[in-house]
Amino acid sequence: MSGLLGVRLLLLLGCACVWLPGLTQAALVISRDHGAQPETRGAARLLQRRSTNEATVEVYSVTVDCTVTSRFAHTVMTSKALNKANSSQEIFFEVELPKTAFITNFSMEIEGQVYVGEVKEKEKAKKQYEKAVSSGQTAGLVKASGRKMEKFSVSVNVASKSEVTFILTYEELLQRKLGQYEILTRVKPKSLVQEFKIVTNIYEPQGIAFVDAHATFLSNELLPLLEKTVTDKKARISFSPTMEQQRTCPGCDGTLIDGDFLIKYDVNRAGDLGDIQLVNGYFVHFFAPPKLPRVPKNVVFVIDRSGSMSGRKIVQTREALLAILKDLNEEDYFALIQFDHHISSWKESLTKANMDNVAEAMVYVKNIRDAGGTDINGALLRGVNMLVKDRQDKKLPERSVDMIILLTDGMPNSGESNTFRIQENVRAAIGGNMSLFCLGFGNDVDYSFLDVMSKQNKGLARRIFEASDATLQLQGFYEEVANPLLSEVDLRYPDNAVDVLTTKHFNQLFNGSEIVVAGRLKDNELNNFLVEVYGQGFEEDFTVQGQASVVDWGVLYPDEDYIFGDFTERLWAYLTIQQLLDKSQTGAPEEKANATAKALEMSLQYSFVTPLTSMVVTKPETEDGTESPLIADKLTEEQRQQAERMLPRYSSPASYRPPPQPTYLVDGDPHFIIELPDKNDALCFNINDRPGTIFNLVRDPKSGILVNGQIIGDKKIPPNGKIHTYFWRFGIVHQTLGLRLEVSTQDISVFQDGKRVHLLWSDTASLKGPNMDLLVTKDRSLTVTLKDSVKFVILLHKVWQKHPYHRDYLGFYTLDTHLFSSSVHGLLGQFYNGIEFEVTDLRPGAVPEKPDATMYVKGQELNVTRGWQRDFRRDVKNGEEVPCWFIHNNATGLIDGDATDYIVSGLFKSV
Ligand SMILES: *[C@@H]1O[C@H](CO)[C@@H](O)[C@H](O)[C@H]1NC(C)=O
Ligand SMILES: *[C@@H]1O[C@H](CO)[C@@H](O)[C@H](O)[C@H]1NC(C)=O
Ligand SMILES: *[C@@H]1O[C@H](CO)[C@@H](O)[C@H](O)[C@H]1NC(C)=O
Ligand SMILES: *[C@@H]1O[C@H](CO)[C@@H](O)[C@H](O)[C@H]1NC(C)=O
Ligand SMILES: *[C@@H]1O[C@H](CO)[C@@H](O)[C@H](O)[C@H]1NC(C)=O
Ligand SMILES: *[C@@H]1O[C@H](CO)[C@@H](O)[C@H](O)[C@H]1NC(C)=O
Ligand SMILES: *[C@@H]1O[C@H](CO)[C@@H](O)[C@H](O)[C@H]1NC(C)=O
Repeated sequence: MSGLLGVRLLLLLGCACVWLPGLTQAALVISRDHGAQPETRGAARLLQRRSTNEATVEVYSVTVDCTVTSRFAHTVMTSKALNKANSSQEIFFEVELPKTAFITNFSMEIEGQVYVGEVKEKEKAKKQYEKAVSSGQTAGLVKASGRKMEKFSVSVNVASKSEVTFILTYEELLQRKLGQYEILTRVKPKSLVQEFKIVTNIYEPQGIAFVDAHATFLSNELLPLLEKTVTDKKARISFSPTMEQQRTCPGCDGTLIDGDFLIKYDVNRAGDLGDIQLVNGYFVHFFAPPKLPRVPKNVVFVIDRSGSMSGRKIVQTREALLAILKDLNEEDYFALIQFDHHISSWKESLTKANMDNVAEAMVYVKNIRDAGGTDINGALLRGVNMLVKDRQDKKLPERSVDMIILLTDGMPNSGESNTFRIQENVRAAIGGNMSLFCLGFGNDVDYSFLDVMSKQNKGLARRIFEASDATLQLQGFYEEVANPLLSEVDLRYPDNAVDVLTTKHFNQLFNGSEIVVAGRLKDNELNNFLVEVYGQGFEEDFTVQGQASVVDWGVLYPDEDYIFGDFTERLWAYLTIQQLLDKSQTGAPEEKANATAKALEMSLQYSFVTPLTSMVVTKPETEDGTESPLIADKLTEEQRQQAERMLPRYSSPASYRPPPQPTYLVDGDPHFIIELPDKNDALCFNINDRPGTIFNLVRDPKSGILVNGQIIGDKKIPPNGKIHTYFWRFGIVHQTLGLRLEVSTQDISVFQDGKRVHLLWSDTASLKGPNMDLLVTKDRSLTVTLKDSVKFVILLHKVWQKHPYHRDYLGFYTLDTHLFSSSVHGLLGQFYNGIEFEVTDLRPGAVPEKPDATMYVKGQELNVTRGWQRDFRRDVKNGEEVPCWFIHNNATGLIDGDATDYIVSGLFKSV
């Protein structure tokens, strides 16, 4: 392991930084698009060796400087640190930026020397990257961070007593949604910073309608430090707490600064033509006329109710649909289609959204239940045909907009399941006559399939993240498309005045959004031209025309330096690249190739880090003379999704939170989970055997504790042919206390000193003794506490009594293992004293969303698969998904010996 790094320390501008072997490697693989796997193990080991003593690095300045010029946001994040140590060390830099932004510059200053990034074709950068990684360097990581951000991290070796400055610049065009623009900055400095500053300047020649600013970390004390100055065409928002003000409490070293800084604003809209800026040879046109009446819509909701939607997802879908139905306008028409492998619709044609019909539909929605497979093709075609037929039969208003909203959480696996053929079928059926919006729920959908399909049909796709706010996400998306104002919008500019225009035809304009077109002036000196906009509105056609003319920014903003420079050109380039990247996904093969080539060329020319390019900074050579490039990439939505599938979901605030202590559990059919919060990871495995078998779960000869469990099978073999087994009875023995406990799905018995106490699941009861406490929560759980420091919870899963296959079963959770000795063993017990493992070499698995990897554990090399199991403690009905590494084959290689070694002869027997 080359002597390049002494200790590794963390310098954080953004990010909660947990370096984990499994996590880090996963990210490494993603950021270089797979390929060979040089030495990721080495890299991980290196990270593990990081020192926790961070005091030898002082981050003394963190500034975020954002300038918005007519929606085009240019943000510079600067971070300065000093290596106070007596030796050189690695300093980390991490920053989070919006996923909609492109990095445009990354540079470093070390000992007076500036190293500036250069944008290169991704393939070329990848070679450099691989070379660096194979020589043991960390060359840079980009990974998804939550729903909206992505995280960029690099490190650099800095000499003793030297300073380093990292400067990252990114740009984006702010998109108007639901009547506002949003600027999101994430700051997590992790320590007190002498100079901390976030400054945003917004220049909007149309005039600013409102500005809201807040931060997730703003307490009442910090709130007054947020300064906001708004004049007609300019807003300035700044926040710069002193070191004292950053402290969590007087004398504490912790910082309050940790979270999202969010600014929302909108501009005034005077005329129907919108605003046109001509600057430096380029123009941009913002079109969002105020006060247009809405056009009625005909919407078919196509709802996936396949088995995978079960639990919270189907509940949230029903809730969202109910809210959406209530929001329909009376002049809208709607239809509801639900599908698994069968397709059924509420009515055979669209229905007017009057109160009675909506009320009737709500009853239908409340009865949507999950079951079966996923026939996306059949369901969509049913929806399309319904709209086509109703149009032909003249049942729908002449002037109205037709749309289909598909909600699905899985891959098509019933009916036509070839995604390419589905796209072709749907495209042919729709024939450009309606819009298709696709909502991909959770991580198991093939998002790029949905994305391409909706873009092929005048629509767009959106991801719905599996979390407690999914209902709101669904409603939020619906609101965005709920109010069409115009359809078939054409923006026209004279051919002799402008060229290289971005898209100028739009299928719809929705209330609260905005159409943006940019282009180049043929003649730099040109200072006005005619602009026309046509569209189909409610009742009549919409047309507006007017002159675009040069506005003198020097007059608009007399007191500012000439800060606006080339923003129109960069805005044009940003928009053009975005549209080319879309075309490179959706077009015909030759169009795709041409669009990709053009997008690459422009990304290089304008220095944008897009999915086709990378930014490379060649940092100073290390002592051993190796070249060490730092590389920034851009993720596609598909890569983001793939990354999320692999990473534990612990970091997302709304989803699963790991317990503070490790938990060792078995639940389901029987799924064992070893949850390791300190590693932010989990292991899982199944042990299958014949019904009736009794397994030893915990055995500790020193403390005299024994836990065995017996499995039973389903009532009969289900149609899928696999019989499931479950634990239904546990025996717990505490030898030294002379105590025995038998817990079954029927009842609970305690035996002590020849006496038997009998408890029923149907009562809530508690039993307190000198050495043992029992707490029964009616029909739900039993908590067993032994001598204050061993704690088990047994969960009762009650199945519908007439269920054709399943029976009631139990789950067993170990929550506290203090009292156990080092000789504790058993299927769960052997993990109580910790388990060391490393995971490397992530690779595609049999199922796309479940990649395989290699695990090194107990001196063995195992093939493992990323998957999920459920922990039911907080939600006994649906459970919460715990992402984990699944060890195949009855956990062979992970558990000591063979699974059969754990079979015992009786519920209270140790052999
Ligand atoms: C650095 O070296 C000086 C002198 O040798 C010593 O006094 C000091 O404690 C060292 N500092 C650190 C952080 O090791
Ligand atoms: C990138 O940033 C560096 C340092 O701030 C600066 O010197 C350089 O000019 C920038 N490059 C571009 C293309 O803006
Ligand atoms: C459009 O949205 C605004 C609020 O953003 C609202 O006041 C207005 O009534 C809406 N117009 C239509 C036609 O829905
Ligand atoms: C689309 O609409 C046009 C005009 O109404 C019609 O001629 C055409 O057949 C439609 N296409 C499909 C595939 O239904
Ligand atoms: C793709 O580019 C080639 C070469 O520039 C050109 O001849 C061809 O017409 C383009 N094809 C499409 C579909 O744009
Ligand atoms: C693991 O899987 C790979 C293929 O992905 C195979 O070549 C190898 O033999 C397997 N190793 C073990 C220990 O099963
Ligand atoms: C392990 O797995 C195999 C195959 O699934 C099964 O037949 C066997 O009975 C399992 N149980 C034990 C204890 O080995």
